[in-house]
Amino acid sequence: MKRVLIGGGTGFIGTRLSNLLKDSGYTVTIISRMPGLGRVTWHEVEKHGIKEPTTAIVNLCGQNVLDPTRRWTPGFKQNVWNSRINTSASLVRAISHASPELKPEVFINISGVSNYKPDNKKVYTEYDECKKYDYMSELCIEWEKAATIDKSLGVRNVKLRTGVVLGREGGMIKSLYLPFFFGAGGPVCEGNQPLPWIHIDDLCELIMFSIENKNVDGVLNAVAPDIITNKDFAKAFGRALWRPALIPLPEFVVNFMFSQERAVLLTTGAKIEPKRTIETGFKYQYPKIYDACRSESKLFLF
Ligand SMILES: NC(=O)c1ccc[n+]([C@@H]2O[C@H](COP(=O)([O-])OP(=O)(O)OC[C@H]3O[C@@H](n4cnc5c(N)ncnc54)[C@H](OP(=O)(O)O)[C@@H]3O)[C@@H](O)[C@H]2O)c1
Repeated sequence: MKRVLIGGGTGFIGTRLSNLLKDSGYTVTIISRMPGLGRVTWHEVEKHGIKEPTTAIVNLCGQNVLDPTRRWTPGFKQNVWNSRINTSASLVRAISHASPELKPEVFINISGVSNYKPDNKKVYTEYDECKKYDYMSELCIEWEKAATIDKSLGVRNVKLRTGVVLGREGGMIKSLYLPFFFGAGGPVCEGNQPLPWIHIDDLCELIMFSIENKNVDGVLNAVAPDIITNKDFAKAFGRALWRPALIPLPEFVVNFMFSQERAVLLTTGAKIEPKRTIETGFKYQYPKIYDACRSESKLFLF
């Protein structure tokens, strides 16, 4: 039996991934803070480790950084940090202690693209060196470190640096849907900042591709090959909804709403190429921004 354990599998990406894996014949067990059918808790993983033969472990856990209802307090920052670093470290420990018949073939950890310092000119690939330059970059770098498995264990270790995930049920599209629907959408600031992005179906397919292909290992940029700006996204999403997208969200409003340290996720960006991802042979279903927006523009979720 092919079994996948998904940390944070109850979330936006996790729900779509679980459905894809189940439709493809996998048994999915979710690791959650809340017990339930088809779930194990983080506490159980910490205490008992991996209990059944497992094909792959995927970590998608993380407190939503851009939750507008939460102030950027030291306590909230700690939640953001712990929900990523501690869960990845806990899975690495469970894998290290698992007996050979239970050990997964691959551990896949998702993180963000803040490793790459915002720059409107340079195009980054997975081969570029990354150094800490602010809180978000430190978070991404430490997250990848926490998700690192000792090579001697023989478990493939895929680290997905993921751009903004475009899907109707969550993330940026869910937050922006109503303003765009009522014709009040537009770019963030002047909109010239790069916006690395990926369609949710491509991200989930890339995770399944990483599970099934033994040549896939190491860092992969989980971004679409179409390098765009925030303004390009606003235009494409507006067009997909048959609406204008001309009203910019001023920088001072974004900084006021989120506080500057996390607002950089919206007001700045880097140009990122998925060089290694393409080298693995992965094929995108939505390489172009308009097609991605079009496919996730329906009003109702059913
Ligand atoms: N969405 C994007 O555009 C995007 C882009 C780049 C990277 N990512 C990363 O991808 C991962 C998944 O994203 P998503 O949009 O699917 O996230 P999501 O829906 O907001 O949440 C994922 C799961 O994380 C768990 N979680 C939330 N807060 C937690 C906390 N304080 N402590 C422990 N667990 C917590 C929850 O599971 P339980 O409630 O079941 O415990 C939740 O279902 C995140 O790490 C995110 O940073 C997302």
